[in-house]
Order: sequence, then C-alpha cells, then structure tokens
Amino acid sequence: MSKELIEKINILKEQKNAVILAHNYQIGEVQDIADFVGDSLGLSVQAAKTNAETIVFCGVLFMAETAAILSPDKTVLLPELHAGCPMADMITAKQLQELKNSHPDALVVGYVNTSAEVKALCDYCCTSGNALELVDSLPKDKQIIFVPDKYLGQYVIDELHREMIIWPGYCPTHAKITGDDVKNAKTQHPDALVMAHPECNEGVRALSDKMLSTGQMINFVKTSDIQSFIVATEIGIIHTLGKQNPDKQFIPITAKAICPNMKKITLEKVLWSLQDNKHVVTVPENITKNAKTALEKMIEILPKT
Ligand code: 13P
Ligand code: SF4
Repeated sequence: MSKELIEKINILKEQKNAVILAHNYQIGEVQDIADFVGDSLGLSVQAAKTNAETIVFCGVLFMAETAAILSPDKTVLLPELHAGCPMADMITAKQLQELKNSHPDALVVGYVNTSAEVKALCDYCCTSGNALELVDSLPKDKQIIFVPDKYLGQYVIDELHREMIIWPGYCPTHAKITGDDVKNAKTQHPDALVMAHPECNEGVRALSDKMLSTGQMINFVKTSDIQSFIVATEIGIIHTLGKQNPDKQFIPITAKAICPNMKKITLEKVLWSLQDNKHVVTVPENITKNAKTALEKMIEILPKT
C-alpha cells in the first residue's frame, strides 16, 4: 500500500515540478519521501532557494506561511489544514502591537513559531538554532522584546547575560518533559549524553549536556564519538537519528513528547495534496513585505554549532 502511494506521489511530484519539505517531527514515512528533512531554519533556507513551482510543506501552518512569505511566486501546500502550532497561537498581532506601544524603542525578535501577522510586526525572526547568535548581534544599548517562547527567551537571557522582555508563551509538547524525566533517564543510562531542545523548561535545561535545535541535534550526533544519547525533544526526530546512525543508541526522554499537530500529516494526505492542490497557503501582500524582511535577516545568521 505504502509502495503504491509513494509511486503515485513521485509521479505527481515530477509532473507538477514540486518539492516536498518535511520537519524532523513528521512521522517516519513522511520524512522518508521528503526531498529535504530539517529544522525550521533549514526548511526556511530550502523554501527560499528551491526552483520548484510547488512546495508541499509537511509541517505546521507557521512553517508553510514562512515558505509562502519567502517564495511568494510559488504554490505552497499544507497537506493538513488543521496542523497548527499552539505556541504560535499564544500571541496575536494585536497583543504584540500593544506590547510594542508600551516599549516604542525596543527591537522586536520573534521566534519563527509565530503567525505571519505577528512576523510582520517583528524586526527580526529567529529559530532555536540561531536565537543566541541573532540576539547577540543586536546593539547592546537597545531593549529587546522576545516573543512568544518564554523558555527559549530565558535560555537566551541566561546564555548572553542580557535582559529582554519576554512573552509568556510555551510549547505544550516540550512542557511535558520534566527535570525528573531527565534524572530518571540519566539513572538508567549513565553513559548517555543528554541533548535537549531550547523549548524545554529550565529544570530540563539545568540537567542537560547540550541545548540544540533539531537540526543541530542531527549534525552533532553525526560528528560525535559518543554512542548513546538521551533525546529531550519531540520523538519524531529519533527516526532520522536512527536511520543516519544505525550503530548509536537514542533514548526518548518520555513517550509523552509527541506533537499532535506534527503527526496529522500522512502519506495519503501528501498524495491528496498534490492531486487536488490543497491546501494552498497564502499570505497577504501587505503582511509579506515586513515579514519577509524579518525572515531574511534570520536566514543570514547561521548557528555556530
Ligand atoms: P526546530 O526544528 O527549529 O528546532 O524547532 C522545533 C519546533 O518545535 C518547531 O515547531
Ligand atoms: Fe508548536 Fe511545539 Fe508542535 Fe513545535 S512541537 S509545532 S512548538 S506545538
């Protein structure tokens, strides 16, 4: 069944000059048929540079919107219209405008996990992979507003010793990971290295060895001599980690770390998306202009790790 579906997807992909981009949290079958699998930054870079006419985005809505902003002449398809990101929904453009009004001189840094409307109000976007480098590059005498992830924001503050005004948003999936989960995993696997995503809370961060975006995790493991890793992020990433490093061991921190939205896309939905051109994601022109500038500044800054 899967084989037939994959064949049909590949034929249509060719006919439509389409490219399939998938986030590291997608189900394994979807990751396996993608032309590019990556983190938010890597996917944005791919969306900006592809020559394909159609981008099938296997991720969540803000990612497809990002692709539409960066490639306004291409058709961007999100195979599941209801794949949203609860963290991105934790701040609206109205709320950000009010915050900006109270701090008119502040620079606004928006995590890429935001709606297009919110991005249009930001001076810069960042991902978890380049937040440190991006904030560090900003003038030291400027106040910074950071939205919407309070844990990523606090991580940046602690690493750079630089105050910021942070919005109290968070990722409900990463919030399920606790410090006790890390303690238990370390007790059971004392030789394993703990890699955690910066969307995790401070309790998890305090006990982790490395804070990395999903793309950084993939790169770090490839070049590391360590054999065993405790993975504190959404468990979909273990598919690619295992495929690329068959001799290494990956321990999911908790089976609870599953993003229900990322799991909504299936092979069938990818096929229907190509067959029926759905669901087309568009961003109004007046929003695209500012949001694109903020995103392009993000793409220029690559993470050091
Ligand atoms: P990265 O893949 O950029 O690390 O982001 C994780 C995430 O939660 C995306 O929604
Ligand atoms: Fe949003 Fe969290 Fe899911 Fe990422 S893992 S898409 S931040 S809810």
